[in-house]
Amino acid sequence: MTTTQADTWGLHESQFWLRGKQPGERVHHAAELGFWNVYGHPEAEEVLRDPATYSSDTTRLVPKDMMPDIDLEEMQAGNLLQLDPPLHNKMRKLVSRAFTPKVVADLEPRIAAVTHEMLDAAGGDGRLELVEDLAYPLPVIVIAELLGVPASDRHLFKGWVDKLFDSSEQFSLKEQSKGRQEAVEKSLEGQQALVEYLGQHVDERRKQPREDLLTKLVEAEVDGEKLTRNEVVNFANVLLLAGHITTTMLLGNAVLCLDTHREWDERVRADRALVPPVIEESLRYLSPFAAVARATTREVELGGTTVPADQMLMVWVAAANRDDRVFAEPDTFNPLRDPNPHLAFGRGIHFCIGAPLARLEGRVALNILFDRYPALRTIPDEPPKFQINPNMTGVRELPLTTA
Ligand code: HEM
Repeated sequence: MTTTQADTWGLHESQFWLRGKQPGERVHHAAELGFWNVYGHPEAEEVLRDPATYSSDTTRLVPKDMMPDIDLEEMQAGNLLQLDPPLHNKMRKLVSRAFTPKVVADLEPRIAAVTHEMLDAAGGDGRLELVEDLAYPLPVIVIAELLGVPASDRHLFKGWVDKLFDSSEQFSLKEQSKGRQEAVEKSLEGQQALVEYLGQHVDERRKQPREDLLTKLVEAEVDGEKLTRNEVVNFANVLLLAGHITTTMLLGNAVLCLDTHREWDERVRADRALVPPVIEESLRYLSPFAAVARATTREVELGGTTVPADQMLMVWVAAANRDDRVFAEPDTFNPLRDPNPHLAFGRGIHFCIGAPLARLEGRVALNILFDRYPALRTIPDEPPKFQINPNMTGVRELPLTTA
């Protein structure tokens, strides 16, 4: 890989999957950590498309003493990300009825209005801190308004969510480090606060329905069955979490990709039809959700390796998105690559339900940034800061000059 300005900021160090990965490696047993890394694109697709062999319910592999006294079943009910068929199909159908393409498309004017509001508030001193001024608040406000919880509570969500993700500890099924234990406890604290908060809102909607997604979720029915309180709370929780931190990273990463590839910055500003391909290529080049987890339900051959039953797999979609068997010159940022079958939104039954919303937010926000600022440039003395969680790739601070 060639060294770029981004390396000097530690961008590649922030991409955990690059560490220790050998060139061409597809499946790797990290014996010391007790799990398997899947790096290859065809192998990652194979895993994501076969939920019977590769279960999303990874909690069953976690040693009991690693989790303090918590009711896993209660915590998982309604959490689409960790459900397997047939429960997943039922749940996904129910939420798809509430979270339709029309619901998303109708948000476009509101996304534009919030973007302008945020940028107006950021002031005109020729500087932006992209994450704080736009990339964090925009997706949170949109998802909060959609659900029907007050967007003005976003400082609360941020506190809880930071507790969930602010850990540089790599998950290990073997070693019980003090840091790991503290990270789990902190993360559960944040999780609990968020669940209690959402529970109160769900109870209110049951008594007094409104025009919002929470009410739609409370009322949605498939085959005469409704979601339980727990299911609604946990699904809303997933939406709030998955719906904002990832999109924050997408916006920051897209701007960073254009800052480090100035020729593309010029081209996309001149031809806005390139905005969607720029977003797709940013998702491939810097995949926000770097890894997704699965557990094997039986012994299986994967990428020429035998993986036993009951093993944890980390499927590094960020690495798969750089597989040279699928992407020519994978380390080159090239929005014109066609096709671009990146796995940044996953594949198969768990394919990101929020992908249309994330793409819409990315498209609207980038266009407005281009309209308002003739240039957006990183500042040499104030380099970007990256997420410290190894499973995420993205900026968490991106200071820019706007002229
Ligand atoms: C699932 C990435 C934005 C809600 C997923 C998965 C990935 C992903 C990789 C698959 C997980 C797996 O297979 O285990 C992203 C990225 C985003 C983004 C990179 C932004 C750039 C959103 C948004 C929402 C959302 C905006 C909601 C508003 C969900 C939900 C699932 C999911 C509910 C679970 C779907 C299921 O299990 O059936 N996302 N996501 N995501 N995402 Fe997103």
